[in-house]
Amino acid sequence: MRSIAIACEKGGVGKTTVAVGLACGLAELGKRVLVVDTDHQAAATRWLGRDHLPGLTRTFAGHLPLERLIQPSCARGVSLVPASTSLVTLERTLGGDPGALFHLREAVDALGPDAFDYLVFDTPPSLGIVVNAVLCAAQEVVVPAEARPMGLAGLQRILATAGRVQRRHHPGLAAPRIVLSRTNHTAVSRTVEAEVRKRYGARVFETTIAERIAVARASGVNRPPSVHEPSGPVTRNFRLLASELDRIEVLPAIGREPKRRTPPTASPVVQQ
Ligand SMILES: Nc1ncnc2c1ncn2[C@@H]1O[C@H](COP(=O)(O)OP(=O)(O)O)[C@@H](O)[C@H]1O
Ligand SMILES: [Mg+2]
Repeated sequence: MRSIAIACEKGGVGKTTVAVGLACGLAELGKRVLVVDTDHQAAATRWLGRDHLPGLTRTFAGHLPLERLIQPSCARGVSLVPASTSLVTLERTLGGDPGALFHLREAVDALGPDAFDYLVFDTPPSLGIVVNAVLCAAQEVVVPAEARPMGLAGLQRILATAGRVQRRHHPGLAAPRIVLSRTNHTAVSRTVEAEVRKRYGARVFETTIAERIAVARASGVNRPPSVHEPSGPVTRNFRLLASELDRIEVLPAIGREPKRRTPPTASPVVQQ
């Protein structure tokens, strides 16, 4: 089972859209997928056709097995652990619990390695206990970077947070990958994409998620794009992202990536 946290401190960058789209894309490839919605706002939960459910807060506290919260969703092949409204108070509830960061990881381990092929966590726009506990529970991180002037803001902070979690608590956490989201044909979008690729190289997915009105149409009716418009462009886009993710290998843990070789400097062309 590969477990992936979709995370970024900044709101509105496309975390939930990517979490739901990617989960559905993977399910279309025949994978068994579990989405765990850890954002108390429950956008992923609604998109997958369900409503809040009390319980996940107790899983974060180590008192309720994740298995007990798994529900079917409206997308074939995708199961869901719905968000709970009380996740918003988790910081206070767990204050002082020394195991606070690790109960979720234990709950995921208790599912067993073959319960699902993929576990996808949607996360809230913060860097609090919920996100830290999810980073301790996941094996991989995917960060959506919006192709907007402020797209890089928030990216560095979540990369630093993932690095800190890896060093202090979770040596096996893979170096995060980045997916460009809400791309369009403007010069700004192209510039941000070029900058992100220059800075992060092979860690950036080749597939980008285009800005499409169909995303709003699908979320407006609480249906994932793959259910609302099965052959639409958004569905095709996420199918590509899912195939790329399924094809590529998990990156080595942060800090253990092979050093990038500096390309040999071209010898100056001598004008004859
Ligand atoms: N590819 C896209 N095309 C069009 N609208 C998008 C796209 N991705 C996200 N949005 C819209 O942007 C808003 C924020 O996206 P969301 O996925 O909820 O971000 P986050 O979870 O990071 O807060 C939502 O209204 C969503 O419909
Ligand atoms: Mg969200």
